[in-house]
Amino acid sequence: MPDNFVVTPWRVEGEIDYDRLTEQFGTTKLTDELLDRLRKIAGEDHFMLRRRIFFSHRDLNMILDSHESGKGFFLYTGRGPSGHTHIGHLIPWVFAKWLQDRFGANMYFQLTDDEKFYSQNNMTLDETRGFAYENALDFVALGFDPAKTSIVIDTEDISTLYPLAAQVAKKLNFSNMKAVFGFTNETNIGMIFYTSLQSAPCFLEDKPVLIPLGVDQDPHFRLTRDVAPKLGRPKPALLHNIMVPALGGPGGKMSGSSGGAIYTTDDPGTVKKKINKYAFSGGKADVEEHRKLGGDPEVDVSYQYLRIFFEPDDARLRKIHDEYRSGSLLTGELKGILIEKINTFLARHQEARERAKDRMGEFRLAKN
Ligand code: TRP
Repeated sequence: MPDNFVVTPWRVEGEIDYDRLTEQFGTTKLTDELLDRLRKIAGEDHFMLRRRIFFSHRDLNMILDSHESGKGFFLYTGRGPSGHTHIGHLIPWVFAKWLQDRFGANMYFQLTDDEKFYSQNNMTLDETRGFAYENALDFVALGFDPAKTSIVIDTEDISTLYPLAAQVAKKLNFSNMKAVFGFTNETNIGMIFYTSLQSAPCFLEDKPVLIPLGVDQDPHFRLTRDVAPKLGRPKPALLHNIMVPALGGPGGKMSGSSGGAIYTTDDPGTVKKKINKYAFSGGKADVEEHRKLGGDPEVDVSYQYLRIFFEPDDARLRKIHDEYRSGSLLTGELKGILIEKINTFLARHQEARERAKDRMGEFRLAKN
Protein backbone atom coordinates (compact mmCIF):
# COMPACT_ATOMS: atom_id res chain seq x y z
CA MET A 1 0.00 0.00 0.00
CA PRO A 2 1.44 3.39 -0.91
CA ASP A 3 2.12 5.80 1.94
CA ASN A 4 -0.34 8.68 2.06
CA PHE A 5 2.15 11.22 3.33
CA VAL A 6 5.01 13.13 1.72
CA VAL A 7 8.15 14.38 3.46
CA THR A 8 10.76 16.32 1.47
CA PRO A 9 12.83 19.40 2.37
CA TRP A 10 10.33 21.58 0.51
CA ARG A 11 7.04 19.79 1.10
CA VAL A 12 5.45 17.97 4.06
CA GLU A 13 1.90 16.66 3.67
CA GLY A 14 -0.48 14.15 5.23
CA GLU A 15 -0.35 12.27 8.49
CA ILE A 16 3.22 11.11 8.89
CA ASP A 17 3.82 7.54 10.00
CA TYR A 18 7.26 7.89 11.60
CA ASP A 19 7.98 4.16 11.59
CA ARG A 20 7.35 4.05 7.86
CA LEU A 21 9.36 7.23 7.33
CA THR A 22 12.31 5.72 9.20
CA GLU A 23 12.21 2.76 6.81
CA GLN A 24 11.75 4.94 3.72
CA PHE A 25 14.68 7.18 4.64
CA GLY A 26 16.85 4.38 6.01
CA THR A 27 17.52 6.10 9.32
CA THR A 28 17.75 4.34 12.70
CA LYS A 29 15.25 4.71 15.52
CA LEU A 30 16.68 5.92 18.81
CA THR A 31 16.84 2.95 21.17
CA ASP A 32 16.53 3.12 24.96
CA GLU A 33 20.17 1.98 25.21
CA LEU A 34 21.48 4.75 23.01
CA LEU A 35 19.38 7.36 24.83
CA ASP A 36 20.66 6.08 28.16
CA ARG A 37 24.21 6.43 26.91
CA LEU A 38 23.55 10.00 25.76
CA ARG A 39 21.88 10.93 29.08
CA LYS A 40 24.64 9.38 31.13
CA ILE A 41 27.35 11.32 29.29
CA ALA A 42 25.28 14.53 29.26
CA GLY A 43 24.61 14.14 32.99
CA GLU A 44 20.99 15.14 32.44
CA ASP A 45 17.81 14.03 30.69
CA HIS A 46 15.80 16.17 28.29
CA PHE A 47 12.04 15.91 27.79
CA MET A 48 12.46 15.94 24.01
CA LEU A 49 14.48 12.72 24.30
CA ARG A 50 12.14 11.13 26.84
CA ARG A 51 9.11 11.84 24.69
CA ARG A 52 10.83 10.88 21.45
CA ILE A 53 10.38 14.32 19.93
CA PHE A 54 13.81 13.32 18.67
CA PHE A 55 13.01 9.85 17.40
CA SER A 56 15.69 8.81 14.94
CA HIS A 57 19.37 9.31 14.13
CA ARG A 58 22.36 8.49 11.99
CA ASP A 59 25.66 7.66 13.75
CA LEU A 60 24.90 9.23 17.13
CA ASN A 61 27.04 6.49 18.69
CA MET A 62 30.03 7.67 16.67
CA ILE A 63 29.58 11.20 18.11
CA LEU A 64 29.50 9.88 21.67
CA ASP A 65 32.60 7.77 20.96
CA SER A 66 34.37 10.85 19.63
CA HIS A 67 33.36 12.82 22.71
CA GLU A 68 34.63 10.09 25.05
CA SER A 69 37.89 9.72 23.15
CA GLY A 70 38.59 13.40 23.81
CA LYS A 71 38.41 14.39 20.13
CA GLY A 72 34.97 15.90 20.66
CA PHE A 73 32.46 17.04 18.05
CA PHE A 74 30.76 20.21 16.89
CA LEU A 75 27.13 21.13 16.30
CA TYR A 76 25.43 22.47 13.19
CA THR A 77 21.86 23.28 12.21
CA GLY A 78 20.16 25.88 10.04
CA ARG A 79 17.14 27.68 8.77
CA GLY A 80 15.81 28.63 5.35
CA PRO A 81 14.67 32.22 5.88
CA SER A 82 11.36 32.27 3.97
CA GLY A 83 9.45 34.09 6.72
CA HIS A 84 9.36 34.68 10.45
CA THR A 85 10.40 31.91 12.83
CA HIS A 86 7.61 29.69 14.11
CA ILE A 87 7.48 27.23 16.99
CA GLY A 88 8.34 24.27 14.75
CA HIS A 89 11.69 25.83 13.85
CA LEU A 90 12.67 26.25 17.49
CA ILE A 91 12.76 22.51 18.32
CA PRO A 92 16.21 21.63 16.93
CA TRP A 93 17.60 25.01 18.07
CA VAL A 94 16.44 24.58 21.68
CA PHE A 95 17.87 21.09 21.69
CA ALA A 96 21.15 22.26 20.13
CA LYS A 97 21.42 24.83 22.94
CA TRP A 98 21.05 22.03 25.50
CA LEU A 99 23.74 20.00 23.70
CA GLN A 100 26.06 23.00 23.65
CA ASP A 101 25.57 23.48 27.41
CA ARG A 102 26.07 19.80 28.23
CA PHE A 103 29.01 19.10 25.88
CA GLY A 104 30.64 22.53 25.50
CA ALA A 105 30.53 22.06 21.73
CA ASN A 106 30.96 24.76 19.09
CA MET A 107 27.82 25.52 17.15
CA TYR A 108 27.24 26.76 13.57
CA PHE A 109 23.87 28.08 12.44
CA GLN A 110 23.41 28.42 8.69
CA LEU A 111 20.88 30.84 7.18
CA THR A 112 20.19 29.84 3.60
CA ASP A 113 18.91 33.05 2.06
CA ASP A 114 20.03 31.77 -1.36
CA GLU A 115 18.06 28.51 -0.99
CA LYS A 116 14.80 30.26 -0.22
CA PHE A 117 15.36 32.69 -3.06
CA TYR A 118 15.76 29.69 -5.40
CA SER A 119 12.85 27.68 -3.98
CA GLN A 120 10.18 30.36 -3.43
CA ASN A 121 8.79 31.82 -6.63
CA ASN A 122 7.56 34.98 -5.00
CA MET A 123 10.53 36.09 -2.88
CA THR A 124 13.34 38.49 -3.73
CA LEU A 125 16.86 37.96 -2.45
CA ASP A 126 16.49 41.13 -0.38
CA GLU A 127 13.45 39.61 1.31
CA THR A 128 15.13 36.31 2.17
CA ARG A 129 18.18 38.22 3.47
CA GLY A 130 15.86 40.32 5.62
CA PHE A 131 14.30 37.21 7.12
CA ALA A 132 17.78 35.74 7.67
CA TYR A 133 18.40 38.64 10.06
CA GLU A 134 14.97 38.23 11.71
CA ASN A 135 15.49 34.48 12.18
CA ALA A 136 19.00 35.04 13.55
CA LEU A 137 17.47 37.17 16.33
CA ASP A 138 15.35 34.21 17.43
CA PHE A 139 18.37 31.96 17.39
CA VAL A 140 20.49 34.34 19.50
CA ALA A 141 17.54 34.87 21.87
CA LEU A 142 17.77 31.21 22.93
CA GLY A 143 20.98 31.95 24.82
CA PHE A 144 23.82 30.37 22.83
CA ASP A 145 27.35 31.08 24.03
CA PRO A 146 28.79 33.74 21.67
CA ALA A 147 32.33 32.43 22.24
CA LYS A 148 31.28 29.06 20.82
CA THR A 149 28.62 29.98 18.28
CA SER A 150 28.75 31.31 14.72
CA ILE A 151 25.92 32.38 12.48
CA VAL A 152 26.68 31.65 8.83
CA ILE A 153 24.70 33.54 6.18
CA ASP A 154 25.12 32.01 2.73
CA THR A 155 25.25 35.20 0.67
CA GLU A 156 27.50 36.97 3.19
CA ASP A 157 29.84 34.18 4.24
CA ILE A 158 30.24 32.60 0.84
CA SER A 159 34.03 33.01 0.84
CA THR A 160 34.25 30.60 3.77
CA LEU A 161 31.62 28.22 2.43
CA TYR A 162 32.54 28.10 -1.24
CA PRO A 163 35.78 26.09 -1.10
CA LEU A 164 33.95 23.44 0.98
CA ALA A 165 30.86 23.48 -1.23
CA ALA A 166 33.08 23.02 -4.30
CA GLN A 167 34.60 19.85 -2.83
CA VAL A 168 31.11 18.43 -2.35
CA ALA A 169 29.72 19.66 -5.68
CA LYS A 170 32.39 17.82 -7.64
CA LYS A 171 31.28 14.51 -6.13
CA LEU A 172 27.55 14.95 -6.80
CA ASN A 173 25.96 14.68 -10.22
CA PHE A 174 22.62 15.61 -11.72
CA SER A 175 21.35 12.00 -11.48
CA ASN A 176 22.00 11.96 -7.73
CA MET A 177 19.99 15.15 -7.34
CA LYS A 178 17.14 13.89 -9.52
CA ALA A 179 16.99 10.58 -7.64
CA VAL A 180 16.85 12.20 -4.21
CA PHE A 181 14.76 15.32 -4.88
CA GLY A 182 12.85 14.51 -8.07
CA PHE A 183 14.42 17.47 -9.92
CA THR A 184 13.71 17.83 -13.63
CA ASN A 185 15.32 19.67 -16.54
CA GLU A 186 13.14 22.66 -15.64
CA THR A 187 14.50 22.91 -12.06
CA ASN A 188 16.63 26.04 -11.70
CA ILE A 189 20.32 25.27 -11.41
CA GLY A 190 20.60 27.08 -8.06
CA MET A 191 18.47 24.32 -6.52
CA ILE A 192 20.58 21.64 -8.19
CA PHE A 193 23.78 23.07 -6.68
CA TYR A 194 22.23 23.96 -3.34
CA THR A 195 22.88 20.67 -1.44
CA SER A 196 26.61 21.40 -1.73
CA LEU A 197 26.11 24.62 0.21
CA GLN A 198 24.04 22.99 2.93
CA SER A 199 26.79 20.35 3.17
CA ALA A 200 29.62 22.87 3.50
CA PRO A 201 29.25 23.68 7.24
CA CYS A 202 29.69 19.95 8.01
CA PHE A 203 33.36 20.42 7.16
CA LEU A 204 34.10 23.70 8.95
CA GLU A 205 36.08 21.93 11.69
CA ASP A 206 38.36 18.94 11.71
CA LYS A 207 36.01 16.95 13.96
CA PRO A 208 32.82 14.97 13.47
CA VAL A 209 29.63 17.04 13.36
CA LEU A 210 26.26 16.35 15.00
CA ILE A 211 23.24 17.95 13.34
CA PRO A 212 19.91 18.19 15.22
CA LEU A 213 17.29 18.79 12.52
CA GLY A 214 13.72 18.31 11.35
CA VAL A 215 13.56 14.92 9.62
CA ASP A 216 12.47 16.61 6.36
CA GLN A 217 16.08 17.83 5.95
CA ASP A 218 17.55 14.31 6.05
CA PRO A 219 17.77 13.86 2.24
CA HIS A 220 20.41 16.60 1.88
CA PHE A 221 22.65 14.96 4.43
CA ARG A 222 22.14 11.49 3.01
CA LEU A 223 24.00 12.90 0.01
CA THR A 224 26.61 14.61 2.22
CA ARG A 225 27.20 11.31 3.99
CA ASP A 226 27.87 9.56 0.67
CA VAL A 227 30.37 12.24 -0.29
CA ALA A 228 32.22 12.66 3.05
CA PRO A 229 34.40 9.50 2.84
CA LYS A 230 35.43 10.49 -0.70
CA LEU A 231 36.76 13.71 0.80
CA GLY A 232 38.48 11.82 3.63
CA ARG A 233 36.11 13.34 6.19
CA PRO A 234 33.79 11.74 8.77
CA LYS A 235 30.14 11.40 7.80
CA PRO A 236 27.91 13.99 9.47
CA ALA A 237 25.81 12.47 12.28
CA LEU A 238 22.15 13.40 12.52
CA LEU A 239 19.51 13.55 15.22
CA HIS A 240 16.02 13.89 13.74
CA ASN A 241 12.99 15.56 15.32
CA ILE A 242 9.36 15.01 14.32
CA MET A 243 7.54 17.78 12.47
CA VAL A 244 5.33 20.00 14.65
CA PRO A 245 1.77 19.39 13.43
CA ALA A 246 -0.03 22.16 11.55
CA LEU A 247 -2.35 24.24 13.73
CA GLY A 248 -5.35 23.05 11.73
CA GLY A 249 -3.94 19.45 11.96
CA PRO A 250 -4.01 16.61 12.48
CA GLY A 251 -1.69 16.04 9.47
CA GLY A 252 0.91 18.22 7.77
CA LYS A 253 3.50 20.37 9.53
CA MET A 254 3.40 23.83 11.02
CA SER A 255 4.16 26.05 8.08
CA GLY A 256 3.84 29.66 7.11
CA SER A 257 3.03 28.81 3.49
CA SER A 258 0.12 26.50 4.26
CA GLY A 259 -1.30 28.78 6.96
CA GLY A 260 -1.66 28.15 10.65
CA ALA A 261 1.62 28.76 12.40
CA ILE A 262 2.42 30.38 15.76
CA TYR A 263 5.23 32.84 15.10
CA THR A 264 7.76 34.04 17.67
CA THR A 265 6.65 37.57 16.79
CA ASP A 266 2.93 36.98 17.54
CA ASP A 267 1.37 39.12 20.27
CA PRO A 268 -0.76 37.56 23.05
CA GLY A 269 -4.07 38.47 21.40
CA THR A 270 -3.03 36.89 18.10
CA VAL A 271 -1.92 33.69 19.83
CA LYS A 272 -5.23 33.47 21.68
CA LYS A 273 -7.22 34.01 18.50
CA LYS A 274 -5.21 31.51 16.45
CA ILE A 275 -5.42 28.73 19.03
CA ASN A 276 -9.09 29.24 19.81
CA LYS A 277 -10.09 29.52 16.20
CA TYR A 278 -7.81 27.10 14.37
CA ALA A 279 -6.19 24.53 16.71
CA PHE A 280 -7.49 21.13 15.62
CA SER A 281 -9.47 19.59 18.44
CA GLY A 282 -9.61 15.99 19.59
CA GLY A 283 -12.78 16.81 21.52
CA LYS A 284 -16.30 15.66 20.94
CA ALA A 285 -19.03 17.54 19.08
CA ASP A 286 -20.67 18.96 22.21
CA VAL A 287 -19.94 19.28 25.91
CA GLU A 288 -22.33 16.57 26.99
CA GLU A 289 -20.81 14.00 24.66
CA HIS A 290 -17.28 15.12 25.57
CA ARG A 291 -17.98 14.69 29.30
CA LYS A 292 -19.38 11.25 28.59
CA LEU A 293 -16.87 9.88 26.07
CA GLY A 294 -13.77 12.04 26.61
CA GLY A 295 -11.39 13.57 24.04
CA ASP A 296 -8.48 12.17 22.05
CA PRO A 297 -5.18 13.81 23.06
CA GLU A 298 -3.25 11.94 20.34
CA VAL A 299 -4.89 14.00 17.58
CA ASP A 300 -5.58 17.16 19.59
CA VAL A 301 -3.13 19.78 18.34
CA SER A 302 -3.19 21.84 21.57
CA TYR A 303 -2.25 18.78 23.60
CA GLN A 304 0.47 17.91 21.10
CA TYR A 305 2.00 21.40 21.34
CA LEU A 306 2.15 21.00 25.12
CA ARG A 307 3.80 17.59 24.72
CA ILE A 308 6.28 18.66 22.06
CA PHE A 309 7.33 22.02 23.45
CA PHE A 310 5.37 23.92 26.07
CA GLU A 311 4.95 21.56 29.05
CA PRO A 312 8.27 19.93 29.96
CA ASP A 313 6.88 18.70 33.31
CA ASP A 314 5.82 15.05 32.85
CA ALA A 315 3.46 14.94 35.83
CA ARG A 316 1.56 18.02 34.73
CA LEU A 317 1.37 16.78 31.14
CA ARG A 318 0.03 13.41 32.28
CA LYS A 319 -2.65 15.11 34.37
CA ILE A 320 -3.80 17.14 31.36
CA HIS A 321 -3.72 14.01 29.20
CA ASP A 322 -5.78 11.94 31.64
CA GLU A 323 -8.34 14.66 32.31
CA TYR A 324 -8.84 15.30 28.61
CA ARG A 325 -9.14 11.58 27.93
CA SER A 326 -11.73 11.15 30.65
CA GLY A 327 -13.75 14.16 29.52
CA SER A 328 -13.37 16.25 32.68
CA LEU A 329 -11.14 18.72 30.78
CA LEU A 330 -12.92 20.44 27.89
CA THR A 331 -11.29 21.54 24.63
CA GLY A 332 -11.77 25.20 25.50
CA GLU A 333 -10.02 24.67 28.85
CA LEU A 334 -7.16 22.76 27.22
CA LYS A 335 -6.74 25.58 24.73
CA GLY A 336 -6.69 28.03 27.64
CA ILE A 337 -3.78 26.15 29.24
CA LEU A 338 -1.83 26.19 25.98
CA ILE A 339 -2.49 29.88 25.27
CA GLU A 340 -1.18 30.79 28.71
CA LYS A 341 1.96 28.66 28.21
CA ILE A 342 2.70 30.06 24.74
CA ASN A 343 2.23 33.65 25.83
CA THR A 344 4.45 33.21 28.88
CA PHE A 345 7.16 31.71 26.66
CA LEU A 346 6.80 34.40 24.00
CA ALA A 347 6.90 37.29 26.49
CA ARG A 348 10.35 36.16 27.65
CA HIS A 349 11.50 35.21 24.18
CA GLN A 350 10.49 38.53 22.67
CA GLU A 351 12.43 40.42 25.33
CA ALA A 352 15.53 38.34 24.63
CA ARG A 353 14.92 38.85 20.91
CA GLU A 354 14.97 42.64 21.40
CA ARG A 355 18.24 42.44 23.31
CA ALA A 356 19.71 40.25 20.54
CA LYS A 357 19.52 43.22 18.16
CA ASP A 358 22.61 44.77 19.76
CA ARG A 359 24.46 41.48 19.97
CA MET A 360 24.44 40.16 16.41
CA GLY A 361 28.08 41.13 15.86
CA GLU A 362 29.19 38.71 18.56
CA PHE A 363 27.80 35.79 16.56
CA ARG A 364 29.08 36.48 13.05
CA LEU A 365 31.36 33.89 11.55
CA ALA A 366 35.00 34.96 11.84
CA LYS A 367 36.50 35.52 8.40
CA ASN A 368 39.43 33.30 7.72
N1 TRP B 1 17.35 23.87 4.27
C1 TRP B 1 16.99 24.23 5.60
C2 TRP B 1 15.58 24.85 5.61
O1 TRP B 1 14.96 25.02 4.62
C3 TRP B 1 17.98 25.19 6.22
C4 TRP B 1 19.25 24.53 6.68
C5 TRP B 1 20.52 24.81 6.28
C6 TRP B 1 19.36 23.48 7.63
N2 TRP B 1 21.42 24.03 6.90
C7 TRP B 1 20.75 23.20 7.74
C8 TRP B 1 18.43 22.78 8.41
C9 TRP B 1 21.22 22.22 8.62
C10 TRP B 1 18.90 21.79 9.26
C11 TRP B 1 20.29 21.51 9.37
O2 TRP B 1 15.08 25.15 6.66
